[in-house]
Amino acid sequence: MLRFPHDFLWGAATAAYQIEGAVDEDGRGESVWDRFSHTPGLVHEGHTGDIACDHYHRCEEDIELLARLGVGLYRFSTAWPRILPTGQGVPEPRGIAFYDRLVDRLLAKGIAPMVTLDHWDLPQALQDRGGWPARDTALRFAEYAQVMFQALGDRVRYWVTHNEPWMVAAIGHRLGLHAPGIRDFQASLRASHHLLLSHGLAVQALRATGSQTPIGIVLNLFHTDPATDSEADVEQAMASDGYTNRWYLDPLFRAVYPADTSALFQRVSGVMDFVRRGDLDTISAPMDFLGVNYYSPRIVRAAAPGEASEFGWVVEKPPADAPVTDGGWQISPEAFTSVLLRLNREYGPLPIFVTENGAICDDTVDDAGRVHDPARISYLAAHLRAAHGALGAGVDLRGYCVWSLLDNFEWADGFSKRFGIVYVDYPTQRRIPKSSFRFMSRVMAVGGLATEMEEQALRLAGPPV
Ligand code: FCB
Repeated sequence: MLRFPHDFLWGAATAAYQIEGAVDEDGRGESVWDRFSHTPGLVHEGHTGDIACDHYHRCEEDIELLARLGVGLYRFSTAWPRILPTGQGVPEPRGIAFYDRLVDRLLAKGIAPMVTLDHWDLPQALQDRGGWPARDTALRFAEYAQVMFQALGDRVRYWVTHNEPWMVAAIGHRLGLHAPGIRDFQASLRASHHLLLSHGLAVQALRATGSQTPIGIVLNLFHTDPATDSEADVEQAMASDGYTNRWYLDPLFRAVYPADTSALFQRVSGVMDFVRRGDLDTISAPMDFLGVNYYSPRIVRAAAPGEASEFGWVVEKPPADAPVTDGGWQISPEAFTSVLLRLNREYGPLPIFVTENGAICDDTVDDAGRVHDPARISYLAAHLRAAHGALGAGVDLRGYCVWSLLDNFEWADGFSKRFGIVYVDYPTQRRIPKSSFRFMSRVMAVGGLATEMEEQALRLAGPPV
């Protein structure tokens, strides 16, 4: 039996745009993801978050599921455009009321709310004024954060400023595959800086209220291996690590952008004049924990002469013999341990929450109406073992949230990719707890992992006990 610390927090995670639906209700404004998903050709089969899991109307049922699962922690996000429909000005009381009720219901069930203020759904009105590449958006975010601190600060147990700023900057502003669909490296660079700056401003704003509630940020960190041990591959793997990981970790924990990455970015884009005096002090305002989202490692090689590559590296597909999920993402619990150990070694010691971890499976409902997902159970069990190993090696790991409670709107993949431990039958909105739900509920109940549990869950298809 792998036992976790008695006060370890077990949780599940979701995000507003991925589950809520009700995009036109109670005064909610448009978000960049409404605009993006409604633009033809950008999301798988034109799917949108208009209805998603209809969580806005089924919130009570979903909290029942959380209680049945046995979580001590629920990580969800508040939708900025529900609170401030145009991104600023007078808060919408009906938007606040929804989260107010949600938080109270969670507390009534003994579940600690962990609230992410920005899980990518920037108000479109702020996008129209420049979005994250504009410094003003950082100031607006701090105001929004203050509204939330005032509304829910007496009951929220953990605040998270942003979810995965790298994704917003790189995938949203450089590759254009996520909202707002911009392809401009300079814009992406500016976005990354203003996301970080706004994080620091929000931390300062929380402290200014006198609140003791812990606050942190969530990063998606990649363990990056060179494809070979050639000097060129090793060098490019390091450069890519700067791009995805250190560009965020260093300013947050060391008040400085990594020199190698800054030099590379300036070579590619010319200017970094948007970093103002004092910004790095703001960004590195001490926070209470780091949230880590981990799914998969990256393998990087040096681009061949003449091969298209903006920075000099190419991210490789997983090796043919590597295990992958049904989504094609490489499975490597060892890389997960490495990420946690590295954080501890290079940036710690610091309290860490695993704020997301999970797997895509091609789930189907069988004739008996059940969803059996042994591959997800194996993935989760292996990563829990890895997390336990990190704890044993001295990492100050405080909790673990499975991604996700529900199947949901998986961004550009729409509803084609399922991550939930609860199956959502979208036409009827029926929720069907999968075998992995049964597995996780047993892990949570006993506070650890026993081999027999995993084996039993793998063998037994069926609804959770
Ligand atoms: C992360 C996102 C989350 C979800 C998972 C699969 O990058 O934070 O919303 O889409 O990936």
